[in-house]
Amino acid sequence: MSTTETIPAQRTVASTQSEMTEIVLPNDTNTLGNLLGGRLMHFIDLNGAMAAYRHSRTYIVTAAMDHIDFIRPVHLGDLVTLKSSVNRAFTSSMEVGVKVWAENTQTGVQCHVASAYLVFVAIDKNGRPVPVPQLVPETANEIRRHADALLRREHREAESARRKHERYATTANEDDCTVIK
Ligand SMILES: CC(C)(COP(=O)(O)OP(=O)(O)OC[C@H]1O[C@@H](n2cnc3c(N)ncnc32)[C@H](O)[C@@H]1OP(=O)(O)O)[C@@H](O)C(=O)NCCC(=O)NCCS
Repeated sequence: MSTTETIPAQRTVASTQSEMTEIVLPNDTNTLGNLLGGRLMHFIDLNGAMAAYRHSRTYIVTAAMDHIDFIRPVHLGDLVTLKSSVNRAFTSSMEVGVKVWAENTQTGVQCHVASAYLVFVAIDKNGRPVPVPQLVPETANEIRRHADALLRREHREAESARRKHERYATTANEDDCTVIK
């Protein structure tokens, strides 16, 4: 049996679905015993990357992380479960959605605590973007997420253009510069 996979021209959302579970340890928490936001973002990045790897089967980098909603605090000792899948593939980039739940180990109550969208870019060994397979949405939810991902990409591009414009204006303003001695 061959161990190398032939990259298909297209993939289903189901083939990208990824899940991971972590236990919240003391090092992951703030002084109130709640999971640190940055630690949760790290878990989200890892779980998002798993879906992007499954779709592209290349090296990938995180290009953007947006729309993170921290809905409820997560407590020391909770089990944190993350589920991700690719929402849409463009040329070399993929938008991935990640949803996070926290489970109280004593009561078994599990709550949705966070959601996020990330963009990963498939790259070669030299860091150059490479094309990814197209994504075929199948269910009604997948079709909706696929359409919404295009709107978010347009919004991201508009924001990026606006920020670039502002940076240019700031650089051109000499009053914003000081000399540190
Ligand atoms: C992301 C990166 C590979 C893009 O390289 P680039 O030379 O700017 O490439 P391009 O402008 O041709 O864009 C390539 C793709 O990335 C997307 N992209 C680039 N910057 C992006 C951003 N900030 N947000 C979302 N998508 C972005 C483009 O839309 C394009 O997508 P498409 O091919 O599907 O249309 C490059 O900026 C990079 O390496 N950034 C650092 C990533 C990193 O270190 N991440 C953290 C550690 S993993």
